[in-house]
Amino acid sequence: MIDAGSINEIKPGKMKRVTAEDGNHILVCNVDGHFYAVDDRCTHEDASLYLGCLKGERVQCSLHGGMFNVRTGEPAAEPAETALKTWPVRIVGERIMIAV
Ligand code: FES
Repeated sequence: MIDAGSINEIKPGKMKRVTAEDGNHILVCNVDGHFYAVDDRCTHEDASLYLGCLKGERVQCSLHGGMFNVRTGEPAAEPAETALKTWPVRIVGERIMIAV
């Protein structure tokens, strides 16, 4: 489990990037009070999705505009074609815990 911080730290519509033990980055997204964790690396050409923006439950990559649904990881707009890895999120007290 990764402690991604307090639920108060990531406001609705905002994202936070956390680093897993293996050095990979995970993007934690707040969609209307629900938290989702996806791979920070765009499956198109490896850009960081943290540099993009969250629009509803979709994150848009800043490099070529590809989009992914952060709830499912599924691609939502080209050129993204391959789904992002996702991890289950549990809220424990006020902490956002990612099950890696
Ligand atoms: S690197 Fe993300 S859409 Fe191309």
